[in-house]
Amino acid sequence: QTLEMEVSQIMKGGYDHYMQKEIHEQPESIFQTMRGRVSRMGAGADAAAGGERCIKLGGLAEHVEAMRSGRRIMFVACGTSYHATLAARQTVEDLVSIPVACELASDLLDRRCPIFRDDTCVFVSQSGETADTLAALEYAKARGALCVGITNTVGSAIARSTHCGVHINAGCEIGVASTKAYTSQIAVITMMALALSEDSISKRDKRNAIIDGLAELPEKIRQALKLDLEMRRLAGTLEGEQSLLVFGRGYNYATALEAALKVKEVALMHSEGILAGEMKHGPLALVDDTMPILAIATKDSMHPKMLSVIQQLLARGANLLVVCNEGDDDLEELCGSPDKRCSLIRVPQVVDCLQPIVNIVPLQLLSYHLTCLRGHNVDQPRNLAKAVTVN
Ligand code: G6P
Repeated sequence: QTLEMEVSQIMKGGYDHYMQKEIHEQPESIFQTMRGRVSRMGAGADAAAGGERCIKLGGLAEHVEAMRSGRRIMFVACGTSYHATLAARQTVEDLVSIPVACELASDLLDRRCPIFRDDTCVFVSQSGETADTLAALEYAKARGALCVGITNTVGSAIARSTHCGVHINAGCEIGVASTKAYTSQIAVITMMALALSEDSISKRDKRNAIIDGLAELPEKIRQALKLDLEMRRLAGTLEGEQSLLVFGRGYNYATALEAALKVKEVALMHSEGILAGEMKHGPLALVDDTMPILAIATKDSMHPKMLSVIQQLLARGANLLVVCNEGDDDLEELCGSPDKRCSLIRVPQVVDCLQPIVNIVPLQLLSYHLTCLRGHNVDQPRNLAKAVTVN
């Protein structure tokens, strides 16, 4: 018993919990995900001086042509992995210009969703063993689709059964709530979109900006992790609450869903991720001066719309936390006055489609601290398992 405890202490590497360790590992895990795949990183000064940037995904190389000429790309996943597919969907749509669908594996099976020979189905799973995702893989394979795996586990059932794939190389994840795998999955799907659009001249500037953004990620995540103490303080303000609403849209709709899932699954507090564009179709009825709300309003093309959402929430006396970029004067002005109950969570800016990777970091910290304060089991939330291998 004591030996077991000691071993687990050593494995936590100085942290109190695996989830905490895995959140703090993200500058390194995201680096490992990109290692040897983003050529700008190795090329150093040459690339910075305007040299060609490129993405190498060995596991996909032979299938890139088939994917480009397919009629649709369908992502299939469960839980946090599903949120990663939502976070990167727009990037795939923008760069590859093929219709993209994101499906929850159980729902795809319930509907017996039509799948065709010229579809590419991408199965995203940290463990590579999730029963529903695996069953959906067999279903798609039987219909002749090209099946691609994105997993964190070499030799897992999904890695073995797919035609080709990419390992996210985030390192072993032990906490039941997925953290570092999420950010690495978004990075891999983004790299996949970059690999698929390599032949497009019209997308070149956009691609180069994203590749440069990838190279900056480890440092930007490191900066975001400095919010740790601040997130502990903010968790203190939420400790006794019943519920937390999370608003986001565009690239950060997924951030809202994922932040709410983290709060729900580990802090055992009701939380709901809401598409801000749907606010007036119901959720606004819940808003009053007792309801804590988290809004994600970093600088992208959705920013003006998020500002207006925040204005409307403040007008109803909401108690707001807002994730924004450093130096966002509009938000500082809107939320800064002492009569407003609003705290800003300032994160560094990256290229819009990678911003969800940075934005989720303080929110993972928030759910972690909230869980500790509320006295719940961080690494093994009640009733949940790391890999759901039966359905
Ligand atoms: C479980 C875990 C989640 C995970 C989901 C999907 O619910 O608790 O953290 O996101 O399964 O798992 P997978 O291994 O397929 O990504």
